[in-house]
Amino acid sequence: MQLNNKFLSSIFNAFDMPLRFVYSHFSPIRKMLYKKLYSSDYKSLDEKFNYFDTLFKQHNVNINDKIVMEVGPGNSLILAYNFLFKGAKKVILVDKYPLNSYKNSDFDIKKDKLQLNYFIREREFLKLKIGTENAEMLFSNIEKQNLIEFIASDLDEIKFENEVDIIVSNSVFEHIYNPKNSIIASAGILKNNGIALHSVDLRDHYNFKRPFLFYKYSEKVWEKYLTKLGVSYTNRLRANHLKDIFLDAGFQILYKNEINLPLNEKKINSHFKGRSDLDISQIDLLLKIQK
Ligand SMILES: C[S@@+](CC[C@H](N)C(=O)[O-])C[C@H]1O[C@@H](n2cnc3c(N)ncnc32)[C@H](O)[C@@H]1O
Repeated sequence: MQLNNKFLSSIFNAFDMPLRFVYSHFSPIRKMLYKKLYSSDYKSLDEKFNYFDTLFKQHNVNINDKIVMEVGPGNSLILAYNFLFKGAKKVILVDKYPLNSYKNSDFDIKKDKLQLNYFIREREFLKLKIGTENAEMLFSNIEKQNLIEFIASDLDEIKFENEVDIIVSNSVFEHIYNPKNSIIASAGILKNNGIALHSVDLRDHYNFKRPFLFYKYSEKVWEKYLTKLGVSYTNRLRANHLKDIFLDAGFQILYKNEINLPLNEKKINSHFKGRSDLDISQIDLLLKIQK
């Protein structure tokens, strides 16, 4: 969340512990807020796709005719649309806590006005970008040929083996409860020489103006009281740890981009003390698996 009002921001930061507790432990409040707080921004995701596409080109990764899996799409289809428009054969969306529930049997889009309007705006945006005719053709092909498949699941619960060419995610790995299991599973899901591209937002999502505020809490307090499994769960895994998990799972790093921010926090819990990666607020990893 981005708080621009100075007064509100100082109150918010001073009482972050009770506010985090209430938000994560009182489900009516969470239910009321999470659709607003966790709605994806299709414009910035569209820019992210351009960034991903540039990285793919720089590293000779071809999207054409490839099976792409997106982990944690949230409520947006914009990455999927972009991959299909660039020639991908099919896009498989995997989300454990579906907000978007594209083609999920439990979900009636007509009853979810907020999501329906979101899809309409997202499609209008794409029409402006690629032209109405191209977009209409794309939407109609997706429908006719079932080019987007949605799976409501964790990566380690799906039964794919050596089937997918490219796995991508944006702002997802910081929300996964057991990233190690998901990363190992992703290595199995990918074909030999398969590619993964993950952009991980390592900031404290409570107030983006204090991106490292959450370092003050012990692991026990954090996990038990201040975060909650589901869409808003945050694991506080740091960049170097994440890299090590990918390497241990057999991935090779083709490209790495890290964004550093000033580490202005004074209170750092012993859980984090001595780490050299505390000022890294985002990591993007382009990876390859060879089996
Ligand atoms: C912050 S949202 C990001 C949504 C979208 N990628 C974006 O950038 O706007 C995180 C997403 O990760 C999903 N997620 C959390 N844990 C997951 C898991 N274990 N497996 C798959 N998806 C998960 C959540 O349901 C949510 O849709």
